Amino acid sequence: MEAQKNSEKIPAHVAIIMDGNGRWAKLRRLPRVQGHLEGAESARIVADACIDEGVGFLTLYAFSTENWARPREEVEFLMAQITKYLAENREEMRERGIRFRAVGRTERLPHQVRKEIEVTENCTAQAGELHLQMALNYGARSEIVDACKKLCSEACEGRLGVQEIDEAAIGRRLYTAGIPDPDLLIRAGGEMRLSNFMLWQLSYSEIYVTDTLWPEFRAPHLRLALREYARRERRFGSVEGEGQQISRGEA
Ligand code: IPE
Ligand code: IPE
Ligand code: MG
Repeated sequence: MEAQKNSEKIPAHVAIIMDGNGRWAKLRRLPRVQGHLEGAESARIVADACIDEGVGFLTLYAFSTENWARPREEVEFLMAQITKYLAENREEMRERGIRFRAVGRTERLPHQVRKEIEVTENCTAQAGELHLQMALNYGARSEIVDACKKLCSEACEGRLGVQEIDEAAIGRRLYTAGIPDPDLLIRAGGEMRLSNFMLWQLSYSEIYVTDTLWPEFRAPHLRLALREYARRERRFGSVEGEGQQISRGEA
């Protein structure tokens, strides 16, 4: 009974802002890129831990639309690292039942990264244990702009009536179409901000910020966050005990 109660409190979708790689490296007098390497290991471990804990969807913020402003060498390193990560891990992802998908303005990523994304998405397409979304060249505002453009062109072409535009219609045109909204947002590295991450989808997510820097964030840290989530009472604007998310369209 207790186990059943607990399993009901496991978030279906966890989204993570993987922050603090640079600070982790600086504390150890290492180059920032060393922090990114160790951070990639955290991503791999946390994805596995999500499977063990019964989380069905995981979104990892890996590169934002603002991150292009970093020094050229760091951006190049990150692009090469993402390419390598996908090439080296896709087989294991498939074996572990991880279905990979990239979200963001991926068409603007370097050719090599796009190619690895495509191969990895195809290679893991039949997996269903964990839906792993990696936010790459992702910005929530760009995502909303892109959704608006889709709605407008469909309306202009007469394929969509203005009265049909509701929350669900917008949701279906976001990069995350078909994926439930995150129940839990985790931010590593202690910053109290969203940094342009999933502004639409996080409307009613529980927020958990930890000072732990991402390269140190591993399975025990995930379990702590899940335990904290299980203690939260989600009210969705209602009153104690009655909290239930209204379905899109009833708003
Ligand atoms: C997050 O770590 C990784 C990316 C944004 C790609 P940072 O590189 O932002 O690390 P800090 O915040 O400088 O410590
Ligand atoms: C957010 O971290 C983006 C990713 C983790 C990919 P940043 O380090 O870029 O965010 P700010 O600059 O602290 O807002
Ligand atoms: Mg940062």
